Amino acid sequence: MRKRIAVLVSGNGSNLERLVELTGNGSINGTVSLVIASNERAFAIERARDHGIDVHTLNSSEYSNSICYCDSILEKLDDYNIDLVILAGFLKILAGRVLDNFKDRIINLHPSLIPNFCGKGMYGERVHRAVLESGMKETGVTVHFVDEGTDTGPIILQKAVPVLVNDTVKTLAARISEVEHRLLPRAVRLFCQDRLRVEKRRVIIDGGGDEDGFTECLE
Ligand code: GRF
Repeated sequence: MRKRIAVLVSGNGSNLERLVELTGNGSINGTVSLVIASNERAFAIERARDHGIDVHTLNSSEYSNSICYCDSILEKLDDYNIDLVILAGFLKILAGRVLDNFKDRIINLHPSLIPNFCGKGMYGERVHRAVLESGMKETGVTVHFVDEGTDTGPIILQKAVPVLVNDTVKTLAARISEVEHRLLPRAVRLFCQDRLRVEKRRVIIDGGGDEDGFTECLE
């Protein structure tokens, strides 16, 4: 059965675009059925509309606290019978019932090798700036399940990205973004094949890895 996917966004939406492309051409056994944006200025909204995908903007400032906010997200997910939630540049922290109801069914994308350069306040350019300031020679991309912490859930896939001598925040961000566009779809595809299992903190990929034709085209 094709999975019904919701993508939660706050900004550009390039990862959303990628998922729409790969679900649309059958590479991923799922459908992006719903987009939830945390603010009406997110360019991702335009992208979703261009593809005819239902978009709901839920602004946290209109709710009395984050639990009420997340409950209203949960309501939308239930309305659309969602199987899998993707946080693709979503800047709000999920809390409350949505985490229980969607345990091991919410995937987040983070632009560093967790547990480095992550946690509260570590998002967007801040991550890359911190990496450059640290002098680290490698950073990367992590795709993980979401738990009640910030960037603490079980890791599905990671890929290292070199930090080059002349890198700026901009050039590093661009190189990271290219890897994100390949790593997130790989994880989503595995989920949609029912091949991901969480045992304690470890994510087991049934069938032993994802080295097939699809992976090659995304390497
Ligand atoms: C990505 O860098 C992701 O790691 C982070 O937010 C960014 C989203 O990019 N969580 P886009 O909106 O999909 O272009």
